Amino acid sequence: MKDYTKDDHKIWQLLATTQMNNIPNKAATTYLNCLQQMKTVLNRQEIPEFKKITHWFKNYTGWSIKTVPGLIPPEEFFSLLAEKKFCSSTWLRNANQLDYLEEPDMFHDIFGHIPLLANPVFSAYLSKFGKIGVKNLAHKKKLIQLQRLYWFTIEFGVIQENEILKPYGAGILSSIEETNRIHRQEGVFHPFNVQKIINTDFHTDRLQEEYFVISSFKELFNSLSAFEY
Ligand SMILES: [Fe+2]
Repeated sequence: MKDYTKDDHKIWQLLATTQMNNIPNKAATTYLNCLQQMKTVLNRQEIPEFKKITHWFKNYTGWSIKTVPGLIPPEEFFSLLAEKKFCSSTWLRNANQLDYLEEPDMFHDIFGHIPLLANPVFSAYLSKFGKIGVKNLAHKKKLIQLQRLYWFTIEFGVIQENEILKPYGAGILSSIEETNRIHRQEGVFHPFNVQKIINTDFHTDRLQEEYFVISSFKELFNSLSAFEY
């Protein structure tokens, strides 16, 4: 495990405590259930140890965490996902970057992304997504489409539960401000439509303006059939 400073530990505790207090009734129920299930290895008290998380997954959906220094080439990115290996950075933001970050840090990668991997349907979605990417490495256009799908689902996905819109995407769940914006229904919310998603550009330098809303994780998984032609 990376050597974290006392300040890093304090930042983790502050981020995790603030967001864990904020998300009940706001985050997707499936995400909240997974987070609860993982509480021995992912909690507000301590910076999580990747080895322990990987060990925990052995009895569930079989994911492991791989440490990466930053962005990795698409071939590696897709093949790791296909093998159920999720990449995480190890650096943690500092005290004056508690909200939106352009570069994902460990709080984003772990707190945002990891819990849902314990859900069998979401887990199957992500690994199948990786496999489709591996098959299409030579097809630039398809890779762009997959990047958009990743962005509007895995990073900024929203699910509707009863009448309430709730984030399940890691980009939202690792931002207190954006979680609250979704709760207030600020933004443009489109019904989930994979054809529209793969034709929609996204930007990485500011809060999102539009979101695509799924009604179930099964719907998300089934959307991958759009790439099987
Ligand atoms: Fe992410």
